[in-house]
Amino acid sequence: MTRRDWMTAAGPMALSQGLSGQVAEGQRKIGLIGNGNRGTAHLSAYLKMKEIQVTALSDLDGARMDAYNSKLGGSATKYIDWRELIKDRNVDVVAIAVPNYLHPEMAITALRAGKHVLLEKPIAISYPLARRIQAEAAKSGKVLAIGMQRRYTSRDHHIQQLVDSGVIGKLQYVNIAEYRGDWSPKGWHYTDPASGRKANWRFMKKATGSTELEFSVHAFSQVVQLVKSPLARCVASGATVHYKDHETRDICQGLIDFENGVRFSYSFCLFSQGTPGTTVIVGDQGTLRYTEGEILLDSGGRKGRKPPEHTGFVDEQAEVQMYREFFAAIAGKGESALNAGLAIESAKIAYAIEMATEQNRVVTGRDFA
Ligand SMILES: NC(=O)c1ccc[n+]([C@@H]2O[C@H](COP(=O)([O-])OP(=O)(O)OC[C@H]3O[C@@H](n4cnc5c(N)ncnc54)[C@H](O)[C@@H]3O)[C@@H](O)[C@H]2O)c1
Repeated sequence: MTRRDWMTAAGPMALSQGLSGQVAEGQRKIGLIGNGNRGTAHLSAYLKMKEIQVTALSDLDGARMDAYNSKLGGSATKYIDWRELIKDRNVDVVAIAVPNYLHPEMAITALRAGKHVLLEKPIAISYPLARRIQAEAAKSGKVLAIGMQRRYTSRDHHIQQLVDSGVIGKLQYVNIAEYRGDWSPKGWHYTDPASGRKANWRFMKKATGSTELEFSVHAFSQVVQLVKSPLARCVASGATVHYKDHETRDICQGLIDFENGVRFSYSFCLFSQGTPGTTVIVGDQGTLRYTEGEILLDSGGRKGRKPPEHTGFVDEQAEVQMYREFFAAIAGKGESALNAGLAIESAKIAYAIEMATEQNRVVTGRDFA
C-alpha cells in the first residue's frame, strides 16, 4: 500500500470531531495512557485529525492529565488507574506512551479487552516479552502498531525509495553514527522495587531495557526496512563512561551481520550534544550519505550528486501519517506497516548488543530461536 493509498483509505472516516465529547459515527475513540513528553506528540496529532475523538486519558500525575484535557476542551474521562481506561466502553483504540517496562502488561491487557493498540517503541524490554505481545496481537485479531514514526519522515521515506529503486545497486553496507546529550531531567522518575533507588526512568535498566532500545531503535528500524533480512551475528562494546549515575550505556559500538550478507556498523555517544550524526549506505553501484542536511549520492565516479527526486510523499506530521496508516489497517483488517514483526526485528539489534556487551560474546540468530 502506498502512502497515498493510506490517505485514501483513511479519507471516508474524516468526519467532524468537535470538542464537545460527542463521538461522531466513524470516529476512532482513543484512550491515551501516558501524558508525558511523548504523549504530547500523540495529542498534537489527535488535535489535527477529525477522525479521532479522545475519549479517555490516564496518567499517574493528575496535573498532566488536566493539562492534556484542557487542550481537548475537557471532553476526556480521566483515570489514574490505566486498567480502568482499558475497561472503558467508550475507548476502542488504546495508545500507550509510558516507560518501556510497562509496555507488555498494558498492551496485552488492552488486546485481551478487544482494543486496537498503538504502542510506543520499543515494543518491550526483552525478546521473550516482545514475542508474547506479538502472539497476543495475532490471537486477538486486533491491530497492533508500534510507534516507530520515523518511517513517515521525509528523509527516511526518500532513502527507502532510493535504495528500493536500486539507485545504489545491491545494498552491501550501512554505517550509522549517532550523537546526543543527556536525557531530559523532566523524565518521569522510576523507583527500583529491589534497591529503592529512584531516578529518571531512562537511567535505569529495569525501566528502559537499554539505551539501544530507547534511543537507537529508530535507526535500527530504518536499517531493518532497508536490509529486509534477519540478524545473523552481532559483536558489540559499550559502557557508561560519562554519566556515572546511569545504569544504561552512554557509549556503544556494534557490528551486525544480516543473513543476506549486508553488514551494519553502528555507534552512539550520549555526551556529545549537537554533533551531527552520519549515515552512509553503500551498494555495489553507489553510496548514499547524509549528515544533518541533504542526501548525497556518490556513483559513476562522481561525488556528492543530487539523488533522484523524492516522489509520492505527503509532507505532514509523522504521527498523523502513522495514525492514518494504523486506521487504514484497522479498516482493512490487515497488519499495520509498523507491526510487531518489524518492531521485533528492530529491537533484536538492541537485544543482541545488550547480550554481546554484557556477556562479552558473539550473539547469533540462534540466540533468538
Ligand atoms: N517514538 C518516539 O520518537 C518516542 C520519543 C520519546 C519517547 N518515546 C517512548 O514513549 C514512551 C514514554 O516516553 P516519554 O518521553 O513520554 O516519558 P516521560 O517520562 O516524559 O513520561 C512518561 C509518563 O508516563 C506516566 N506513567 C508512568 N507510569 C504510569 C502508569 N503506571 N500509568 C499511567 N501513566 C504512567 C508518567 O506519569 C509520565 O507522565 C517510552 O516508551 C518512550 O520510549 C517514543
